[in-house]
Amino acid sequence: MTIEKCVWWKDAVVYQIWVPSYKDSNGDGVGDLPGVISTLDYLKDLGIDMIWLSPMYDSPQVDMGYDISDYQKIYPKYGTLNDMQELIDKCHDKGIKIILDLVANHTSSENKWFQESRSSKNNPKRDWYFWRKPRYDESGNRIEPNNWMSYFSGSAWEYDETTDEYYLRLYAKDQPDLNWNNYEVRNTIYDSVINWWFEKGVDGFRIDTAGKFSKVESFQDAPIILKDSFYQPVGNLALNGPRIHEFHKEMFDRCWSKYDAFVVGEVGRCSKQEALKYVGKSRNEMNAILLFDVVKLIYEKNDRFQKTKWDLIDFKKAIDKQCNLIKGTDAWSTIFLENHDEPRCVSKFINTNYRVEGGKLLTMLQSTLSGTLFIYQGQEIGMTNLPRSWDISEYKDIVTINYYNEFKEKYGKDADFKEKEEKLIDVIKFCSRDHARSPVQWNSEKFAGFSTVEPWTRVNDNYSEINVESQLNDPNSILSFYKQLIKLRKQFKDLFTYGEFEVLDYDNTILFTYVKKSPKFEVPKVYVVLNFSSKWVKFEKLIEGNFNLLVTNVSKKDILDEKLSPYEGRVYIIE
Ligand code: GLC
Ligand code: CA
Repeated sequence: MTIEKCVWWKDAVVYQIWVPSYKDSNGDGVGDLPGVISTLDYLKDLGIDMIWLSPMYDSPQVDMGYDISDYQKIYPKYGTLNDMQELIDKCHDKGIKIILDLVANHTSSENKWFQESRSSKNNPKRDWYFWRKPRYDESGNRIEPNNWMSYFSGSAWEYDETTDEYYLRLYAKDQPDLNWNNYEVRNTIYDSVINWWFEKGVDGFRIDTAGKFSKVESFQDAPIILKDSFYQPVGNLALNGPRIHEFHKEMFDRCWSKYDAFVVGEVGRCSKQEALKYVGKSRNEMNAILLFDVVKLIYEKNDRFQKTKWDLIDFKKAIDKQCNLIKGTDAWSTIFLENHDEPRCVSKFINTNYRVEGGKLLTMLQSTLSGTLFIYQGQEIGMTNLPRSWDISEYKDIVTINYYNEFKEKYGKDADFKEKEEKLIDVIKFCSRDHARSPVQWNSEKFAGFSTVEPWTRVNDNYSEINVESQLNDPNSILSFYKQLIKLRKQFKDLFTYGEFEVLDYDNTILFTYVKKSPKFEVPKVYVVLNFSSKWVKFEKLIEGNFNLLVTNVSKKDILDEKLSPYEGRVYIIE
């Protein structure tokens, strides 16, 4: 099957903006839409073709805007509808597309739909959410309708006194799940959310939790996986559920097919077969999918705060899966190493003593892989995780806080609590979502040029060393390297973006070598070798051919033909 190339979003480079920590324009310590507008030239210069804006809708911010109280209003601290229109229009003036986050699995409990729904059992919107009667144990204690565990810890059900029933909330207690089986719910999402925003000019959406809209309606107990917990991971009872593809096809018919849109779904970890159901072109559901195998390598499947042991072979497998989703299929893929839910990639995959070399190495990896490329704010300057020395009180994310509170409840009275706590913070230092959420480091002034006042969340201590301004003027910076690689990606898009991916050294735990080539011709091809270690390593060409060095992350005069220095990477064109 040959890949269809003529749609604009396939070779676009997408930049994700998480508004509260991006740029504050009015000195209140919170990022905002005028702040975003003020940086469009910077993004254009970087080579960005599209921005994805994380939720900017009105919200009580329990989960940083992924809890929406009004889909047609802007969160006042971010600006107004006029600011939003200006952002859309200015993006378009500069030839940048803009997509929004579609958070439709759940709303905020402050949304008027939920307020109505909870008010009485007979309310016309009662069925817009999942309401279930309590169960009672042998001693007559009230218990939840089933054992499902929330992704944010504890039960997935919340008791509501008003009508003596529980509502389902897979995330925070203030994020009730919408009942997608109800046609009025779907209709409202299509007309009053998606198409309403299309009419304002947006170019598409990233669908939040796109695999979770359909639940197994029997609401049976989830199988026991966690031995010492009553609540159990919901797994497939709420993921890739019975009606999920029917819903996505309907959304395609009612919304996506009517606009020249880019629609990318957050589907999480799933098999190739399952992924293709969402993203096969002929399926008419969505254009691309965000697969999480790479970014989630570092934690256990059912516990974000348990680190896993993984090696470069696992990493290669995960990359292979992302790239090869399109091999022999009519689907399209994406490539990303960071987002607002993930720690910084240099802190995750690289020995941070080699942050600059390693940051460039990951840039080479990312920009030579197949699919639509996503970059998260601050990634382009190699921003890092928060310092280990910070106190737990600096962590603001609900996932970290809930986890910590549960931990404290469980072990708080133990004599060795302090030791246990230190161990947990060691893990939080690697795994928490907060690492992606510190303010973008624009310059070396106080508060990193993000704001003129103390920001809502603390600036990383390393801002005077790592910031946009210093890197803009430095030809050897990660930022300059990103710019260069984005240019090359566009110049060689047949190979970088659309080429077939093949790993040449699967068993090697230190080097990652792969080729990218057209499905039709043997040459030219791209040959990439990346040293993922802090050691000097022997370099051998694994295939025959005429190697021309296109780009490397070390100064060309330092290159030793036979050896790769720590975190050295090379991209050759073979003709
Ligand atoms: C998605 C978002 C995450 C949010 C969750 C609930 O996974 O990326 O930030 O907390 O959905 O909406
Ligand atoms: Ca502000």
